[in-house]
Amino acid sequence: MSETHSFSRRELLQGASMLAATTAMTALTGCGPKRSSSSGHGLPGVDVSGSHSLKAHAMDARMLFGFAVNTQKLRDDAAYRALVEQQCSIIVAENAMKWQALRPAIDQFSFADADALVEFAASRHIRLRGHNLCWHEALPEWFAKQVTAVNARQLLRDHIRTVAGRYAGRMHSWDVVNEAIDVKDGRPDGLRNTPWLQLIGTDYIEMAFRVARDADPSALLTYNEYGIEQETQDAAMKRAAVLLMLRRLKQRNVPLDAVGIQSHLQAQSAYGTGLQRFVRDCREIGLEVFLTEMDVNDRTLPSDIATRDITVARLYRSYLDLLLPERNVTAVLTWGVSDAGTWLNNGKDRAREDGLPQRPLLFDDHLRAKPAFVAVRETFDARRQAGALRSTPTPQKPLPKL
Ligand code: G3I
Repeated sequence: MSETHSFSRRELLQGASMLAATTAMTALTGCGPKRSSSSGHGLPGVDVSGSHSLKAHAMDARMLFGFAVNTQKLRDDAAYRALVEQQCSIIVAENAMKWQALRPAIDQFSFADADALVEFAASRHIRLRGHNLCWHEALPEWFAKQVTAVNARQLLRDHIRTVAGRYAGRMHSWDVVNEAIDVKDGRPDGLRNTPWLQLIGTDYIEMAFRVARDADPSALLTYNEYGIEQETQDAAMKRAAVLLMLRRLKQRNVPLDAVGIQSHLQAQSAYGTGLQRFVRDCREIGLEVFLTEMDVNDRTLPSDIATRDITVARLYRSYLDLLLPERNVTAVLTWGVSDAGTWLNNGKDRAREDGLPQRPLLFDDHLRAKPAFVAVRETFDARRQAGALRSTPTPQKPLPKL
């Protein structure tokens, strides 16, 4: 990270006092305040609603903000749904549009959840990202047993044509291919040795994008990746491999509009000029950049909640201050609505040594805004106030109307 940012005294006092009060109350009564501000979602004295929401501040900065959502909570939890409606100009399904959710059998599709999400987004005028059309994970159980080198190409083509075709004209963007690069697999082209590569060959990526464009000419077709963010040798090598693949696709006129930088951040890692250069390299080949799955893994931080929340907020601020001045960055999404549903609290390899749940997101498990909310909102304001463009976006398709 090229520079550290100090919080204003007000933010620190706000964050600390809110957290101290909440922690004390929770300790005494066993349950924290359910709502702690006029809008019902905020830090004491910090309004998070209406013009103070993240979507409003993002809009002023000519970008989109949103969450990855759980479709069952969206359906059943009114407070969760209200927070999504209040804060989001874009959303993505955490799981409901993956193969595992859509494909109960090799000859069947199950669209109920995905259809409901598309209707929810359309009725609230919230843009919708699709995630994802081709990945080596979240494959249904029948995949390993029934998919072969003989049927894989047609199966992938039919899946993309059916799913992207079903929602044509209603999607902001699709993660067409997810996480196809893994330098550690040792291939000269850096491609991950996925079942798709083994069964179809290296052209599965090109085919996926071409079929997706045919199926939905209006969606921004995105390549989505993780592990390219940090200022480390491994991340630098992965960035280089991703860029090599993207450049080759663009040279072959493969329809490709954006790159998703997942942004699963580690609390004590450095982020800096390597990633900034990558974003500019993407702009130079006409690609928008979405920060698609942002959260902060706090497992290495101390147990104290106030310390963790302020440190997490500081990292969100530094990371976004690094990237948001790049005008081809046009959307930011966190991977989840609140700490209550984070994937980081599932799985032993992500568990904190003190056994406490992680607190990676902008809202806590009672849907109350945390210091990270203030930090992220201020980075949107900084982008708006910067005004002068560090680099004018040259996306092949017009920027989404905000
Ligand atoms: O829905 C089934 C449920 O019916 C079943 O009883 C249960 C038993 O295991 O599994 C449930 O499915 C789980 C699903 O999440 C929904 O909760 C899967 O097992 C579980 O593997 C799946 O994990 C998701 C993971 O991707 C794999 O798809 C996480 O929630 C999700 O946060 C995570 O997200 C990924 C992005 O898609 C890509 N980038 C990395 C990111 C984090 O790994």
